[in-house]
Formats: sequence, C-alpha cells, structure tokens
Amino acid sequence: MEVIIQPTKEAAALLVARILAHELRANPHLVLGLATGKTMEQVYRQLVRMHKDDKLDFSLCSTFNLDEYVGLFPSDPNSYRHYMDHHVFRHVNVDARNTHLPNGLATDLDAECRRYEGLIQRFGGIDLQLLGLGKAGHIGFNEPLSALRSRTRVKALTPTTLKQNASFFGGEDKVPRRAITMGVGTILESRRSILLATGDSKADVIAKAVEGPITSMISATTLQLHPKCTVVVDEEAASQLKEKDYYRWIFGNEPEWEQYR
Ligand code: GLP
Repeated sequence: MEVIIQPTKEAAALLVARILAHELRANPHLVLGLATGKTMEQVYRQLVRMHKDDKLDFSLCSTFNLDEYVGLFPSDPNSYRHYMDHHVFRHVNVDARNTHLPNGLATDLDAECRRYEGLIQRFGGIDLQLLGLGKAGHIGFNEPLSALRSRTRVKALTPTTLKQNASFFGGEDKVPRRAITMGVGTILESRRSILLATGDSKADVIAKAVEGPITSMISATTLQLHPKCTVVVDEEAASQLKEKDYYRWIFGNEPEWEQYR
C-alpha cells in the first residue's frame, strides 16, 4: 500500500484522475472499476475535462461499477446508473454497451450477482478499481463483517450507511435497505486499486484502514492485502495518520511518482 497526501480535496481528486488517465492512455482497452459518492464527483469532473481538453479517449474501455441499490429504476435520480450517466458516461465517448452496473431490479438477485461476477471474468478482470470510503469503513457496500473472500452479493445496509446517504433520498426511511455490491474478494482481485478519501469526517476511518489491523469489521482494512493499492487523501483525511512523514518521503522519492509531484 502507498499513501499519498495532497494539500486539498481538489488536488487529491486531480491526482486520482491523472493516474487513471495515464493508465487509460497506456491501455485503451482498460477495464475500469468505478465508484460513486460525493468524493468521486470531483474525479469525474476532471476526467470529463480531460476528455474535452486533452482528448482522453474512453471509446475502447469497459467499466464495472462497484454497487447498485436494490429496487431503484435506472431512471431514478438516486440510482447509481443515473449517477454514472449524469457525472461521466453522458459526457465522454465511452460505449454505453461497455458500461456495467449490477441490476438491482432483477427478479432473481442471487442469479444477477453470479452473472455480474461472470461478466467481470469474461472481460478479463478489473485492471484499475476506484474506491471511495464509507464512514463505517466500507468499500463498495461491504458493510461490517463482510467476509474477506466475499463475491458480488446482496448486502443489507447498516444504520450508519443509511444515515450517510439519507440526504440524497430526503430522509433515512427512504433509503433502500439493500444493495448489490462487489465482494471484498472481487475487489482484492483487481490488478490495481485507488482509494480516495477526503475531509475530516474520513480521518478516523482512514487511519484505521491504513494503520490498523485487518478486520472484516472495516472492509477498507483488507486493502492491506491488495497487491497494488494507492490511498490518496487530503490533509484533513490524513490528520490522524501516524506515519505521515514516511508516506511523504516515499511520494517524494519513489521514481514512479515523479510525474505526479
Ligand atoms: C457509498 C458507496 C461507496 C462510497 C461511499 C462514499 O456508500 N456505495 O462505494 O465509497 O458512498 O461516499 P462519499 O464519497 O459521498 O463520502
């Protein structure tokens, strides 16, 4: 795991977008794992800008989102399909047929989860997985006690998550109670992952995810098992990390990061 601390949330999001753009230019057929949430909006804004200004080409890539609510129509403004169309897909030249999200309306949800896993396999696995961080420490919707080897499945959302997402739905009671999410095992199989967390509300959980023991109670801690995970944070989210000097030293000295400094 590597930790990169940026001065602001804008700088953190820009760095994530630049890493993604670099990978996409190196491999136009990139299979991207995508995340939703407020934090990611800044990354997507940068990617849309790079598409418009720098001709960043999405025409050959494929995308798989981490999760989707159960029971929402794609046209529902709170569905993640709507989020992705609104913030990214509609503004870049990705082929809509290559954009994938779990179908939260499937009559057989377990079969849908198996189909989604199979589809990821058929595309050769995920090359680069973007991840946000829930306040309870979840990645995707892998709520506390998610098995470390779990695959795509239906999860019940915890009260903390319902509270965190209530404002989008106009009240906690309106938030769907369940979602389909890639499992921890699915995420750990991606070839590269980038976790982005900004703001002081994420400081406590980032410190646990990076420097705490691995536990299924906080699924982000399992990223310590990931073969190539980069954690990008702003100063606020980094405030409770103990080894900040070490992380800064690595970022300042590792040749791989030279183009991003
Ligand atoms: C939801 C998503 C997560 C995401 C989280 C972060 O819970 N299912 O994948 O990480 O939101 O949200 P925000 O960026 O709004 O804090």
